[in-house]
Amino acid sequence: MSPFPRADYRGLSLYAPDRRPVGVDLSDNTNLWGTHPAALARIQAATSDDLARYPDLYADRLRAAVSQRFNVQADCVTTGAGSDDVLDSAFRAAYGTGATVRYASPTFSMVEPLARMNGIAAKAVLWSAAALDPQLLLEEDPDLVYVCRPNNPTGELLPVEWVERLLRHRGDEGPLIILDEAYANFAEETMISWAVQNPRLLVARTASKAFGLAGLRCGFGVAQPETTLAIEKSRGPYKVSRLAADAAAAALLDEDGWMANTVAECLVNRARLSDELSTRGLRPLESRANFVLFAAPSGSASDDALALRERGIAVRPFTGIEAIGEGLRVTVGPWPLMEHFLDALDETPWADADEEANASDSPPGRAS
Ligand SMILES: Cc1ncc(COP(=O)(O)O)c(C=O)c1O
Repeated sequence: MSPFPRADYRGLSLYAPDRRPVGVDLSDNTNLWGTHPAALARIQAATSDDLARYPDLYADRLRAAVSQRFNVQADCVTTGAGSDDVLDSAFRAAYGTGATVRYASPTFSMVEPLARMNGIAAKAVLWSAAALDPQLLLEEDPDLVYVCRPNNPTGELLPVEWVERLLRHRGDEGPLIILDEAYANFAEETMISWAVQNPRLLVARTASKAFGLAGLRCGFGVAQPETTLAIEKSRGPYKVSRLAADAAAAALLDEDGWMANTVAECLVNRARLSDELSTRGLRPLESRANFVLFAAPSGSASDDALALRERGIAVRPFTGIEAIGEGLRVTVGPWPLMEHFLDALDETPWADADEEANASDSPPGRAS
C-alpha cells in the first residue's frame, strides 16, 4: 500500500455538511445583515498590485489593526485564513507522540477532525460534567484544552471564573487552553485581556461571524508572543491575502459602526425568536451567540431539517444534546427571515400532529 496518506489519515472523512443552495440559509451562523461596508469598500478599491504582488508575510497590517482594536501588542497577535486556520496551526504546533486535546462535548464540530488531521488524539468530556468541574478537562495531562465561549452549538457562555479555574490548575505547567471566541461579539464579553497576561491561554477570533466576512477567510488569535510565534511558524507565510487582511482591518477599526448595530439588532431578535420557540413548546436553550438551539419538533433532527429544507429553509441538525436530545440550530437574522423560518416551522408535519394531539400526548421533541 502507498505510504500516502499516512495510516491514521485514511479513516478521516471530508467535512461536508449539507450546503446545497436554499432560499434562506440559517445554518452557518454568519451575519445575515450582510457584510461590513468598510471591508466591502476596501475590496471595491482593489488595485492591480493587490492581486499581482504577495501580501505581507505575516499579515502585519491586520495584526496592527487587531493590536489597536484590542489594545494588545502586535506580537501577541497571530492570524490565519479563518479562525479554523489559527486552530489548525495551533494543533499542528502541539503535534507529538501521544499528543491529546480535551474538550467538552458537544462543541464546534471541527475540533475533532482538526485534531485528527494533525495526528492529535481528541478526547471528549460530557459538557454538563465539565461545566461543573473544569478539572475534568485536565485529566490525563492533555497538551491542549479547547473551550468554545460562547459554545457552538448550544450558545452557553461558561463563566469567566470557570476559565480561571482551568488556568489556575497546574500553573504555568498545564496545557495550552484554546478559548474559541468566534461568537464573543454576541455575548459582549471577551477574555482577550487575559490572554496577554497568561502564558497558557490562546483566544481565537474570527471575522466570519459578527463582521459578516465569512467569504474573506480571515481570523486571528491573541496570546503571549511565545505562543503566537509557534503558531505563525506552524501556519507559514502568505496565508492571509492582501485584500482579506486589509478589508478585515478596515472592519475591525470601525469600532462603533455597522457591526455593533447589527449585533444589537441580533440580540433583540434572539430574545424574540427564543420566545416564539418557547411558545411552541420547543425548549430553546439560552443562547449568548447569534443562533438558538431548540428541540427538534418531531424528535428527529434530520427529518425536521429535511422538512424545513423542502420549505426553503436550511438549519443545522444535531443529535445527542443533553438537555433536549435531538435539536435544530437556527442562525438569528433580520426579523423577516425569522418570520419565514417560523412560518415554515408551522407548516412542517409536526405542526399538524400537534393540532391533532392537542388534547393527548405531545410529539417526542416537545416539552410536556
Ligand atoms: C466555534 C467556531 N469556531 C471557529 C469557526 C471557524 O470560523 P472561520 O470561518 O473563521 O474559520 C466556526 C465556524 O463556524 C465556529 O463555529
